[in-house]
Amino acid sequence: MDQTKSLRNPLLFNECVINKRYVSLEEVSFHDTIGDCWIVIYDHVYDVSTFLDEHPGGREILLEYAGRDASCAFRSTGHSKVAIYALKRYYVGELPIEERIFRKVGGYALIDLS
Ligand code: HEM
Repeated sequence: MDQTKSLRNPLLFNECVINKRYVSLEEVSFHDTIGDCWIVIYDHVYDVSTFLDEHPGGREILLEYAGRDASCAFRSTGHSKVAIYALKRYYVGELPIEERIFRKVGGYALIDLS
């Protein structure tokens, strides 16, 4: 993928993160509290600790997925493009290849969620 193009388009941001950080599901599972809450959406890891009280759907629902995969919940709630863009702010890294649920060459990008 053309990196310059990717950097201009935030929806493609995750495709071109240089020096990607791989985060295992085990590591994610340690971040499962109100003050330290990570979730996984489409094999990407997000630290939503500072977003809990801002979430329009409430913090309780996010906490249900603290330290876990929330892909189906996120998708089935029909989040808007605004929500998908918001994810980028909380990006930590992505799951190692052997722990991913979704299979796509190059991995999933935010654009795949819209
Ligand atoms: C970092 C992850 C998330 C972000 C950035 C996020 C963001 C948002 C945003 C911006 C809205 C307002 C409506 C919209 O624009 O779509 C929303 C609504 C909502 N979200 Fe999330 N969300 C996240 C994760 C989740 C998860 C894992 C669930 C679990 C089911 C969830 C459940 C909901 C619900 C039920 C609403 C609707 C609230 C209402 O209209 O009363 N969200 N979210």
